[in-house]
Order: sequence, then structure tokens, then C-alpha cells
Amino acid sequence: MTEQILVTGGAGFIGTHLCAALLDRGAQVTAVDNLSAGRLPALAELQRHDRFRLVEHDITVPLDWEAPLTAVVHLASPIGPAYVRDHPVSTLMAGSAGTVNALEIARRQRARIVLVSSAEVYGDPTVQPQPETYTGNTDPVGPMSGYQEAKRFLEAMATAYRREYDVNTGIIRPFNVYGPGMLPSDRRVVAAFAVQALAGQELVVNGPDAVRSLCYVDDFVAGLIAMMESHAPGPVNLGAGEGTAIGDLAKLVVATVGSGSVRTGATGNLGGAARCPDITLARDTLGWKPTTALEHGIRATVDDMRTAVDAQATVRFDVPSAWTTLLPGTPELHCRAASVGAALHWLTDTYPVLAPRLLSPQGQLVPWTNVYLDQDNVRDLNGMDTALTGEVTLTALPAMAGG
Ligand SMILES: NC(=O)c1ccc[n+]([C@@H]2O[C@H](COP(=O)([O-])OP(=O)(O)OC[C@H]3O[C@@H](n4cnc5c(N)ncnc54)[C@H](O)[C@@H]3O)[C@@H](O)[C@H]2O)c1
Repeated sequence: MTEQILVTGGAGFIGTHLCAALLDRGAQVTAVDNLSAGRLPALAELQRHDRFRLVEHDITVPLDWEAPLTAVVHLASPIGPAYVRDHPVSTLMAGSAGTVNALEIARRQRARIVLVSSAEVYGDPTVQPQPETYTGNTDPVGPMSGYQEAKRFLEAMATAYRREYDVNTGIIRPFNVYGPGMLPSDRRVVAAFAVQALAGQELVVNGPDAVRSLCYVDDFVAGLIAMMESHAPGPVNLGAGEGTAIGDLAKLVVATVGSGSVRTGATGNLGGAARCPDITLARDTLGWKPTTALEHGIRATVDDMRTAVDAQATVRFDVPSAWTTLLPGTPELHCRAASVGAALHWLTDTYPVLAPRLLSPQGQLVPWTNVYLDQDNVRDLNGMDTALTGEVTLTALPAMAGG
């Protein structure tokens, strides 16, 4: 019988890789995603497949789902330290209401559900490496609390549904996952280093000895599928058992790209303590271990990022005069981006002070309808997914420029 799998957040980085792997094994796959993280090129590939369907939906709103399901994988969540620090409300909503709605679908359909948590549940760990039995060191009102508590709630609610409603839940705790398919606008460490090196820039690494566990996306997806096939409740760590110092990662990326340079500062950190998983449980319960060498994974990521960067438009923003007080000393704003949404995400990530002008109270980008492409005024392009190529100028609507 054909497997029927629903993947929340299925249009994202891990989600598109997972959906592709599930299609490869003959499954019928539905991705439920609000596309808040943009539209990845890999999504267009998936949409060409007749066993794939995208349902554009915000999972914090209950989803009326009646079709039988073999399994649900719940990935939908905002991500990235900078983004989640600035958007704690939508992050907590995805982890709480979004998780309940995903669990309800699995409960009604009597389906296995794998819920994707994060190594952030360990906070600033005082134990190295972290086994699943370590309960963490988090601050419920700290800067990362929106994300950490969202994931801790996800785990608690998954466990509650298992205990009280007998739902077949499984919790995965990923560490850093990287690989092809990350957007150049992704601010996470591997993508950010690759983009900087490709631009020939200096990679400034404060705290080069800080250690991260970097897991190649194909390895991670194999672990997710093994968890989906098992009945294990978890939580189970999935990550590289051996950590990589950030300074060494920067040097590897620069050597692989063939341009850029590395400057290290002795102090500072990258936002977060060393996190390295103990992966004994994944090996013992799922028979899983990562197999991709870091050099190979970085090569594949860099090659893909080079293509993505080349395909991006050079975007210039017309800075409305009403913003000049918000951005003192910033006469010009420009970036490279592949879509209207990606450019606006860059703008709100880089200048959080603009967020109230560009984001709805729910943290969604508001439509930006007055777009000038190559000097031609193309009106009514209110789609965030509108692809950008060449030299582009984005101009704010008078209402958004605000007074
Ligand atoms: N990539 C990593 O290194 C990593 C590490 C730890 C945990 N995780 C977890 O893995 C999951 C996937 O991460 P990713 O790297 O693919 O991120 P991603 O941003 O590429 O994918 C997340 C997807 O969820 C969607 N989404 C967000 N909020 C939503 C909502 N309310 N309703 C519907 N869709 C929504 C986004 O549009 C996006 O497509 C997340 O839950 C994340 O917390 C990832």
C-alpha cells in the first residue's frame, strides 16, 4: 500500500530534502507550509512530481485533514538565532499551537508522528557531550527563550499526547544540519560562511574554538526516516558525534571556495555554547550514524551555493525619506536576493527597526506591491515569491513608508 505522509514545514530546507527522499521510496507526500521562509528552488522540483502536493497553510491554525495517513513529520517552525530572537511570538505559536494541530491530525488518523525539536532544548549545556538524559540549562526569559521554550513545549506536548491519548509520537533533537538547498539569505553558520567566501570577503570569527556539531542533510533525513519507521518515543539526538571548531570550519569553507580569508578574534562567541550530541541512543535504537565526511558535505554545499548566488538579483532599496530617522547614516541599502520575499527578509533581519513597517502583527511580511524591475515600473506584483533577476530596485508603498 502506498505510504501517505504529511510533512509540516515541508517546503523548507530539511523539509524539501525529506519530501524528495519520501517520493523516492514511492510515498504520496503532502507538504503543509505557509512559505514564511520563502520558496526554495527545491520546492519547484517537488511540485513537478505527481505524488507531491503543497498545501499553503499556517499550522498554528487547525487544519481540516480527513484523508488517511501513515505518518506525520512536524518540522514547521521559524528558525535561525537572529530571526527567532526578533520574532519570539510567531516562534512560540508554531511550537505550541502548531504542534497541537499537528498532533491532532496524527491522533485523528492514528498515524505515527515524528516531531522535530532542537538541540536548543539543552540551552547553554554544562555537560559535554549532551546525552538525551541531560535536562538542559535554559532561561525561560532569556534572549533565545522564544525558540527554546517552543521546542521544550513541543517535547512536553508530544509526550502528553503519547501518555494521555496513546498517540505514536517520536521526538528528534537535531543539532546543526547543513547541505545543498540552503538559501544565500540563510544566516546560519555554514551558509553565511559560504556566501561571504564566495563574495571574496573576510570571514571574521570571534571565538574560533567554539564547537558545533555539523550534520549533512542526507544523513539527517536518513535518521528522520528511521525514526518515522520505528515506534521509539525519543527524544533522540541526531547530529555529528564529533564537533568542529568554528575557526576550522571557516578555513575549510575558504579553502573549498578558493576565495575569501579568515580573521579570528580570541574572544566573543557565536551566540550559544558548545553543543555536541551523544549519539549512542540513535545508534542503538535506530541503527543510525552519520556517514558523510565534512569535506564532502562542504564541497556539495559550496557548489550549490555558488549556483544560488549567481542566480540572485542585485537589489537596491529606495529608502523612503520617512525611514531616514530610523536608519541614521545608512543612505543606501542593497543586497542580493532571488525573490521579493527574500529581499524583504534580508531587510527586516538586517534592520530589525524596520520590522514594524514590513511585518504584520503575526510576523508575516506584508505585500510589497510597488516593484520596479530594471527601471520598468511593474505594478501589482504582490507575491512574495516573485522571482528577481538582474538589477532590481524595490520601492516602498507610501503606506508602508509611514509617517
Ligand atoms: N536546520 C537545522 O540546523 C536545524 C537545527 C535544529 C532544529 N531544526 C528544526 O528543524 C525544522 C526544519 O528546519 P529547517 O532548517 O528546514 O528550516 P526552514 O526554515 O528551512 O524550514 C521550516 C519551514 O517551516 C515553515 N513554517 C514556519 N512557520 C510555519 C507555520 N506557522 N505554518 C506552516 N509552516 C511554517 C517555513 O515556511 C519553512 O518552510 C525546524 O523545526 C527547526 O527548528 C533545524
